Amino acid sequence: MNPFYLPFWYFEAKFLKRKKPLQTVLFITNKCNLSCTHCSVYDHTSPVMKGYGQIEEELRYSYNLGSRFVDFEGGEPTLWRDGSRTLNDLIDLAHKTGFFSTTVTTNAQEPFAGLKADSVWVSMDGIHEYHEAVRGKGTFEKLVANAAGSKHKALSANMVIDSNNFVNVADTLEFVKNSGFFKSIAFNFYTPAFGNAEDPLSLNWNDRGSILDFLIAEKRKGAPIMNSVSGLKRMKNLDFEKVCWMCNYILPDGTRLPECVGKSAGICNHCGFCMAGEMRSVIDFRPDTLLAGLKLRV
Ligand SMILES: C[S@@+](CC[C@H](N)C(=O)[O-])C[C@H]1O[C@@H](n2cnc3c(N)ncnc32)[C@H](O)[C@@H]1O
Ligand code: SF4
Ligand code: SF4
Repeated sequence: MNPFYLPFWYFEAKFLKRKKPLQTVLFITNKCNLSCTHCSVYDHTSPVMKGYGQIEEELRYSYNLGSRFVDFEGGEPTLWRDGSRTLNDLIDLAHKTGFFSTTVTTNAQEPFAGLKADSVWVSMDGIHEYHEAVRGKGTFEKLVANAAGSKHKALSANMVIDSNNFVNVADTLEFVKNSGFFKSIAFNFYTPAFGNAEDPLSLNWNDRGSILDFLIAEKRKGAPIMNSVSGLKRMKNLDFEKVCWMCNYILPDGTRLPECVGKSAGICNHCGFCMAGEMRSVIDFRPDTLLAGLKLRV
């Protein structure tokens, strides 16, 4: 990794106002083995599985834009295959292309021991019945077995908070602390795909504020929360100037977007993706956010 790349990128972004992405979210398939209540990505009718060659091209494209961190997304990325090639071949390919680090987000329904990603995010939307209300019966037990069995060195949980599971946030954090296999947990809020504020899964603004206050207090006490205090504070009020161009997206159908789909769908005012606050705090040079980002990515 070139040690000058990040300071140079920052200088260009902050002072020359260059909008070069640093991170890429690359959807490699929309095939999935679950049908989560909050998700609009999976396609069980005619799922797309991108070929190795297409992904190679998309990695090179993102690298040439300036991106150096890639998150392999789906659908369920661990289901990805092209002939005898598996997700580990894509991780090798990303490193060969020049990416500094790779991340995989998984529902952990398949064993993933030996996954070469630099960090792995396991989606855990609460514990026991709270997780299963979103992801289906039997999913929690499998998740725990596969996460524990992975022995991955940089394993974190990711919870999407909605109007049902928000009461389970404290217990989920406690579970992560005591798990012995999760290093930390990141929190996001349910984001309605079509911007409908009346969507029954959307958490009301008061409860969202209380959860953010709780997470900020816990983080200050040293809880293993990946979000930074500065980033969490930002998410209390979405009026801030967004810098979401820091992360480019390539969708399952190959569409290339300079920001997440939420931008084109016009749902930024209902955004629950806490990375929006983290990215803003990076540009504002908040030390706690920079530290959290470096810890995760480098
Ligand atoms: C689309 S999934 C793909 C990876 C994998 N299948 C999984 O569930 O981890 C990536 C992440 O997006 C989150 N997600 C899906 N729909 C969402 C929504 N409407 N609002 C916020 N996050 C969402 C999931 O919970 C998961 O953590
Ligand atoms: S496991 Fe991931 S991709 Fe599949 S339905 Fe759930 S959130 Fe969507
Ligand atoms: S504010 Fe949220 S929805 Fe809008 S582009 Fe940024 S991450 Fe996406």
